[in-house]
Amino acid sequence: MKAIVCTKYGPPEVLQLKEVEKPTPKNNEVLIKIHATAVTASDCIIRGFNMPGNFGFPKKQMMELMMRLVVGFKKPRKPIIGLVLSGEIEAVGKKIKRFKIGDEVYGFTGFSFGAYAEYVCIRENESKQGCLAIKPDTMNHEEAASITYGGILAMHFMKDANIQNGHKVLIYGASGATGTTAVQLAKHFGAEVTGVCSSSNMELVKSLGSDKVIDYTDEDSINKLELYDFILDAVGENKTSKLKIQCKKALDRNGKYISVDGGDLKLRAEYLIQHNGIIEAGHLKPVIDRTYPLEQIVEAHRYVAKGHKKGNVVITVN
Ligand SMILES: NC(=O)c1ccc[n+]([C@@H]2O[C@H](COP(=O)([O-])OP(=O)(O)OC[C@H]3O[C@@H](n4cnc5c(N)ncnc54)[C@H](OP(=O)(O)O)[C@@H]3O)[C@@H](O)[C@H]2O)c1
Repeated sequence: MKAIVCTKYGPPEVLQLKEVEKPTPKNNEVLIKIHATAVTASDCIIRGFNMPGNFGFPKKQMMELMMRLVVGFKKPRKPIIGLVLSGEIEAVGKKIKRFKIGDEVYGFTGFSFGAYAEYVCIRENESKQGCLAIKPDTMNHEEAASITYGGILAMHFMKDANIQNGHKVLIYGASGATGTTAVQLAKHFGAEVTGVCSSSNMELVKSLGSDKVIDYTDEDSINKLELYDFILDAVGENKTSKLKIQCKKALDRNGKYISVDGGDLKLRAEYLIQHNGIIEAGHLKPVIDRTYPLEQIVEAHRYVAKGHKKGNVVITVN
């Protein structure tokens, strides 16, 4: 099968298209023929080994050591990287109960990686090694692959906020993969949403349902802050501004500030299943900035690594 192989940490050019052996599913795995994947911010972080935050560790060095132990010391232990996918089940292991051959599925590969390929094997049950759900019929594979990463991050980091009707929610970095999903989810949960983005993304963020939009590059933006019940930093610690520093103080008495770099992300199939209902209700739409074929993944990584994509960058595979 065709796959993109990453033989060392480095710039986008370390990614190479190769012919590799097609995997065979173990008893607890399904074999998926991948139709689409996406280049996520995390893929660039892993390919270059540039860790942004502490991910809950007290010191960055501790987090980096842990990541090298898990992902690989000098190069990725799993040379085919890639975290999200949408495709069709081609074979199932003997113990598989939730899925059957022919099911169209989408999901996250987690620490098993492997989505930059024509086929991947994933465990049926959710774990740090990934999670899977049936793809809604209303989305094609490109859309499903694009919504998985931001969807799981947004759902995970918003679940503790317990957003209620009328809550005031601010999404910092509303134009990225997580931000575009978080704005729509917060609206779905009944919040009054303020999205923070640059001027070039204001129309996009409004079109996703944001009631108010603040341009973080505007000198006067700090004066536009109100008090919020919940603030989500949807772009992580590497992306900041004067407004971001200030907005940490713009919380109502019981308000909460959460960063996507702040904790231990759980890969729950339940998040995807919840998405399915919201997608089918028409309240959650993927935002796709660009689409590249698998053969042009180096160009896609160069683009994503600049840090300014709008929503998601999709890779078509089969
Ligand atoms: N906790 C965990 O386990 C975990 C796991 C995976 C990922 N993460 C974190 O989650 C982040 C997810 O990011 P993502 O993929 O959703 O983002 P993304 O799509 O890569 O973000 C791109 C967006 O960021 C905006 N942006 C750039 N600089 C900004 C700034 N200074 N202030 C506000 N917005 C800015 C850009 O718009 P403009 O340029 O127009 O502003 C662009 O639309 C990752 O970077 C990683 O840090 C955490």
